[in-house]
Amino acid sequence: MKISSPVFLSFLVASAHGATYTISDIVAGPKFFDFFEFQTIPDPVHGRVNYVDRTTALKQNLTFAGDANSIVRADFKTVLNPKGPGRNSVRIRSKKTYMTHVAVFDVHHMPQGCGTWPAIREMNVSQWPNGGGLVDMLEGVNDQTPNVVTLHTNEGCTMPASRDQTGISRQNNCNRLINNNAGCGVESPTTKSYGPPFNSNGGGWYIVERASTYIKIFFWPRDSTSVPDDVRNGSISINTDMWGTPIAFFPDTSCNMTQQFSNHNIVIGLSLCGDWAGGLSFGESGCPGNCVDFVNNNPGAFTDAYFDFASIRIYQSRFKRNVIETNS
Ligand SMILES: *[C@@H]1O[C@H](CO)[C@@H](O)[C@H](O)[C@H]1NC(C)=O
Ligand SMILES: *[C@@H]1O[C@H](CO)[C@@H](O)[C@H](O)[C@H]1NC(C)=O
Ligand SMILES: *[C@@H]1O[C@H](CO)[C@@H](O)[C@H](O)[C@H]1NC(C)=O
Ligand SMILES: *[C@@H]1O[C@H](CO)[C@@H](O)[C@H](O)[C@H]1NC(C)=O
Repeated sequence: MKISSPVFLSFLVASAHGATYTISDIVAGPKFFDFFEFQTIPDPVHGRVNYVDRTTALKQNLTFAGDANSIVRADFKTVLNPKGPGRNSVRIRSKKTYMTHVAVFDVHHMPQGCGTWPAIREMNVSQWPNGGGLVDMLEGVNDQTPNVVTLHTNEGCTMPASRDQTGISRQNNCNRLINNNAGCGVESPTTKSYGPPFNSNGGGWYIVERASTYIKIFFWPRDSTSVPDDVRNGSISINTDMWGTPIAFFPDTSCNMTQQFSNHNIVIGLSLCGDWAGGLSFGESGCPGNCVDFVNNNPGAFTDAYFDFASIRIYQSRFKRNVIETNS
């Protein structure tokens, strides 16, 4: 091994501690939905939705997997009987669970419109809401931008007031049992992170990095000039240490990550109305009348209530690069 300059040496030190991960799952193309199970459960957030199974979703084209686009949507054709079930929609969860990993969501479009409450999150569907932790990576209601990234935990997990992130902290106690389960949220610094501005910009890359001692959320809008090459290229290995400051940083300073977060499923869903979207937020967002009536009577208002994924890529196996092997 030859070390010829201090510059080279600092590169060696950096890469020796690099958070490097290797691809484990590429979720894209016609088999996109094989990665998931369809959750035909009553909506946990009491939305005006009816989560359908895979056969129904396929038949009604609520899910569609092409070569470059995978669509997850709510029905936009049916006027509902007010006494009948809610609007057909989809909630899917990964069959696999993950501990330490990076998940890169390349998203072209997310659901928009009055009454919508889309989410991409990580949680253990067998444990939550009694534990296991919840990471809301992309979530919001009624087109209110920006996105808010939030952790929800059991008692005993708080975040330092000042930390290395570009987003703005709302609350620093992640405990689900206080503040009406608001969790410890961080507002994205850009309006392009959610809803119509996200969509008109062609979406972007949402990324969760779950390490043993921290959770980071990164986001790059489609038109960003600072998207890391390994993200843009969908490289087989990635180094999150080279990505700069995340929008949200949740360190383990006063939160035992091992204790608070179990093995997580990836969950993608679209609710309508319910506890948050159907509450005060509906009128505050300039949406007309009552959310449930709106959903029942206006199928055409949901033509843009869909996710369009280019791909989801999961990386695992954090390892420290072997300096001698790499540079000798
Ligand atoms: C199903 O949805 C896809 C994606 O939105 C669309 O391209 C396709 O035309 C739809 N098929 C039908 C039969 O409506
Ligand atoms: C949730 O966690 C439990 C305990 O670690 C695990 O056995 C189970 O597989 C997880 N649930 C799902 C649905 O994967
Ligand atoms: C990504 O792709 C660009 C353009 O094709 C290439 O120049 C660059 O080396 C690639 N980066 C990585 C990390 O693969
Ligand atoms: C964190 O929790 C795990 C699992 O309960 C425990 O084994 C570990 O000792 C805890 N770490 C600290 C620093 O308290």
